[in-house]
Amino acid sequence: MKDLFERIIKDKGPLGKWAKQAEGYYVFPKLEGPISNRMHFNGKRVITWSINDYLGLANHPEVLKVDGEAAAEYGMAYPMGARMMSGHTKYHEQLEQECAEFVDKEAAYLVNFGYQGIVSAVDALVSKNDVIVYDMDTHACIIDGVRLHAGKRFVYKHNDVESLEKNLQRATKMATENNGGILVISEGVFGMRGEQGRLKEIAALKKKYNFRLLVDDAHGFGTLGEGGRGTGFEQGVQDDIDVYFATFAKSMAGIGAFFAADKDIIQYLQYNMRSQMFAKSLPMAMVKGALKRLDMIRTMPELKDKLWENVNALQSGLREAGFDLGTTQTCITPVFLKGDIPEAMAMVNDLRENYGVFCSIVVYPVIPKGLIILRLIPTATHTLQDVEETIEAFSGIRSKLEGGVYKRIAAAMVQ
Ligand SMILES: Cc1ncc(COP(=O)(O)O)c(C=O)c1O
Repeated sequence: MKDLFERIIKDKGPLGKWAKQAEGYYVFPKLEGPISNRMHFNGKRVITWSINDYLGLANHPEVLKVDGEAAAEYGMAYPMGARMMSGHTKYHEQLEQECAEFVDKEAAYLVNFGYQGIVSAVDALVSKNDVIVYDMDTHACIIDGVRLHAGKRFVYKHNDVESLEKNLQRATKMATENNGGILVISEGVFGMRGEQGRLKEIAALKKKYNFRLLVDDAHGFGTLGEGGRGTGFEQGVQDDIDVYFATFAKSMAGIGAFFAADKDIIQYLQYNMRSQMFAKSLPMAMVKGALKRLDMIRTMPELKDKLWENVNALQSGLREAGFDLGTTQTCITPVFLKGDIPEAMAMVNDLRENYGVFCSIVVYPVIPKGLIILRLIPTATHTLQDVEETIEAFSGIRSKLEGGVYKRIAAAMVQ
């Protein structure tokens, strides 16, 4: 028998094994200064394209004021205890009502974190007789929620409605045999490549198959649809989404999340969702701050307009400069380049140090070997000057990448 920690110390995991080379720079970087289009990294001012503060609310003076006042009045502890026991307030209720109204559902339920919320909601919604059918490229929280499921699950090819239908046929057979139901799970917006989930086509399958649809709209809330009401509105199928989810960690620039659905379903979640039943409720400063943010999303359409002005300028500028942005239909702007991991690291280093541009880098095993994605997240705080400088910087690094400069730098670093 081994000491448990022997393996852990030896095998640090697929990402942990890169810690020595990457920590503090490529992973766990410290972006400093107020959250905005330009922040400090490694002692330099950089254009920041890696923050999901889509509407620029994170550092908006009105938001800061409400956050500060709420923290001063209530501290960060109130209310104490789980919602069910002692952590419930009229403001939690008000926020739920307003979230529900905003996304046109009967009721809503707050959760402390989107990740835990989804894991726990998937766990609560299905019994062992039920079948889950979910998109292959969904976020880790959905995958982990599905892992808890004691019954059958089928995964369909990413955003492939034909594959979904095939799996729905299998699921229908299985659910009928078990006297269970079917839960289909998709994202509203897929965060890595920026495609919208094909919600319209998925919803159309409801005419042929009996299933309920859960949509994780983390990136669609605030950015898509009339008034920023999400991907369901964007595609005109909000009524077909049986359980709608959005996090406060992106457009709302806060922390927390909510589910919205029919009253009965929300009540079921309130009494059966273990992540909320057995955890402290969302602190009041977050709740009051979220009420303010939601109000600003509702009353300041210019924030979303500015976001999209920047998205359109960035995406059309990059495309005109010959960059491949894949199939994005949202704010998420992935720039696809070809190269290996050491080249990607040298390139990102150059981009940050010499061009003053900070963005996320995605490589194998998240995407196929030989491919690099530089992922840009435009926000309402960016300027057209940021866009222009970034396109110039990208043209510069692409020439070097194609000329083998980064390959040589990476090879020299190994020696
Ligand atoms: C699609 C999706 N779902 C859920 C989450 C988790 O949300 P939270 O940060 O509130 O835990 C994220 C955040 O990264 C996300 O992108």
